[in-house]
Amino acid sequence: MARKTINDFAQMVSKGEKIVYLTAYDYLTAKMQEKAGVDMILVGDSLGMVTLGYDTTFPVTMDDMVRHCQAVRRGAPNTFIVGDMPYMSYQTSNEQAIANAGRLIKEADVDAIKLEGGGPMIAERVKAIQQAGILVMGHIGLTPQFMGQIGGYKAQGRSAAAAMKIVDQAKVVEEAGAFSILVEGVPTAVGKAITERAGIPILGIGAGSYTHGQLLIYADMVGMYDNFTPKFVKKYANVGEVLTNAFKEYVDEVRAAQFPVDAEHTYGMKEEDVKEFLIALDKK
Ligand code: KIV
Repeated sequence: MARKTINDFAQMVSKGEKIVYLTAYDYLTAKMQEKAGVDMILVGDSLGMVTLGYDTTFPVTMDDMVRHCQAVRRGAPNTFIVGDMPYMSYQTSNEQAIANAGRLIKEADVDAIKLEGGGPMIAERVKAIQQAGILVMGHIGLTPQFMGQIGGYKAQGRSAAAAMKIVDQAKVVEEAGAFSILVEGVPTAVGKAITERAGIPILGIGAGSYTHGQLLIYADMVGMYDNFTPKFVKKYANVGEVLTNAFKEYVDEVRAAQFPVDAEHTYGMKEEDVKEFLIALDKK
């Protein structure tokens, strides 16, 4: 299957087909997602929590993002990949933002980058990056890099005024030249209003059913990340439990000398070679 482009996504939107979007951070997961037919993969800075074990996304660096985007690209050569811009990789200046977005394109072969926020400074960055020829996905609503200012990791736009502010941000980001916007953690009415007013694909994570596509963090939806599960997550599997049980069984079998079974799990040697080997050992 050929890698999708923005034209394919525009067509999907016009036909009312949903865009399927998932996060991945490593080769194996990306490979499985491509096999499953996912349309778009986000290498999110959520890798900080999911893969690197931090409490927030703040410590994630550009080098982390480049390394993980490269691994995901190797696993999913034919899937549209969005690389996330980590905290402080675009806030300082347009030049910094273009240079770092360019690293994800040049060094990791991603198709687009994503950055958080909807204010005037972010609009300036979106404009600058897209003028450098790079596809930019906006990210508004619950934006973890603004955690301090939005009062923690919690739903946004739950009053009329707050909802209006997010609808306005969507307009600002679209006008700045974003090819798509991800809306996170807002009531269904807000996701619907943004989607109905947009001229670009609107993707949602915890933004209701009306958006043009849906994103989930893969480790949440397969039951691997259990530190915290947002309300909008549906668990499709319990992989964490399956893996833990497999690890426990291995621990028990090795301790009980039940693994390995020589007839099944080791390399053979011809009888005469074993004999010769034992004679040579004796002579030593
Ligand atoms: O980093 C990420 O995975 C994200 C999602 C939480 C939207 O930005």
